[in-house]
Amino acid sequence: MAELAIRGGAAVRPQGFPPWPVWDDRDVDAVADVVRSGNWGGFPEPGPNAAEFEARFAAYQGAEHGVLMANGTVTMEVALKALGIGWGDEVIVPALTFTATAYAPMAAGALPVIVDVTPETWTIDPEQVEAAVTPRTKAIIPVHLGHQMADMDAVARIAAKHGLAVAEDCAHAPGQQWEGKGAGCIGEFGSFSHQSSKILTAGEGGTLLTNDDRLARLAHSIIDCGRAKDPEEREFTLGANYRLGEFHAALLLTQMDRFEEQRKERAATGAYFEELAPQVEGVRIMARDPRITRWSFYNYIFAIDPDAFAGATNGTVAAALEAEGIPAEVQYPPMNRYDLFDPSRSRLPVAVEHAGRLDTSTMSFPVAEEAGLRQSIYLMENTFRAGGEGIEDVVEALAKVRKHANELPGPAE
Ligand SMILES: Cc1ncc(COP(=O)(O)O)c(C=O)c1O
Repeated sequence: MAELAIRGGAAVRPQGFPPWPVWDDRDVDAVADVVRSGNWGGFPEPGPNAAEFEARFAAYQGAEHGVLMANGTVTMEVALKALGIGWGDEVIVPALTFTATAYAPMAAGALPVIVDVTPETWTIDPEQVEAAVTPRTKAIIPVHLGHQMADMDAVARIAAKHGLAVAEDCAHAPGQQWEGKGAGCIGEFGSFSHQSSKILTAGEGGTLLTNDDRLARLAHSIIDCGRAKDPEEREFTLGANYRLGEFHAALLLTQMDRFEEQRKERAATGAYFEELAPQVEGVRIMARDPRITRWSFYNYIFAIDPDAFAGATNGTVAAALEAEGIPAEVQYPPMNRYDLFDPSRSRLPVAVEHAGRLDTSTMSFPVAEEAGLRQSIYLMENTFRAGGEGIEDVVEALAKVRKHANELPGPAE
């Protein structure tokens, strides 16, 4: 009889993990209050709940300004546009991230220049960034992936040396701090997502943080159809409507009330996972950088060695963990495997002069390819909200899948 749940055996954790998002009557009342107020939309921008959330979230991360908008993709597009980046410019992005990170430069009219990640953290490799800088380079978008942060000391150094802007993609990183500075407060802009799976969510939404008064005004203007936001109302922009409505903003305020407690809980159970998981042969912890001084994460990413799992790669092992009741998945392929860059499937909307530079047949990202196609497994945030007992079940499931790896489905199944 098979042991693994994926083959019909008994699951390690049939009761599952706590659901997300967490909500109660406070959230219901906040939404009802917006209904009663009659002030539902995002215009005039910002609405009262939006303005309150912007101020609270910016203060929590340590930035001067927050600009709330539709999602954590347009945030990065708006950041680049506010920085004056567009046609003919290049923006350096990592090869292991969600497609939005590369979409944003293209939406602003610029070319995403994709570079590999480091084997230690799977975040952007500073040496590769330095090598990719050309006279056209205008910005770097480091991504704080999973429970890690990009090496912001190195990124800031390279940016200063070459006069580049930095827009941090912090979709995974609300709450994180690097050497005492909040994620999203180190570069010119920090971009956050409030999409439903993210750890500070209203279902949809995104926030840009910045310490620069003028950049904040320009971002507010770009998301509000170009309306001028300076006191004399002279500085119009080429904007569109990327506003977020008051219902979402009200939910972000109630979610913010719970955030710090949830962050501490995940950080404590995350540390316990790091203690236990290395006991399982073939499991490698991507140790967090000691310069991360306040730890907060969306998903936790670890590595498996396929040889220890009878040759099975990350997708198969994650599916087996799922069957055992552990919320695990493989999130991102390397960027050169995204359909967006497959000419047979995608009509990439970039200027002709750029097209040849996005030819995936010439791209090679050995570290991101090994991570994305063979090693990386993401544990979802709720795995870290079931106490020590939840973590023990995760580790038990990993050990079980490894022990019975000969039962795992082969590539042809
Ligand atoms: C790294 C990263 N950047 C950007 C985004 C885009 O955020 P949104 O879904 O709010 O547009 C996401 C997730 O969705 C993400 O994981």
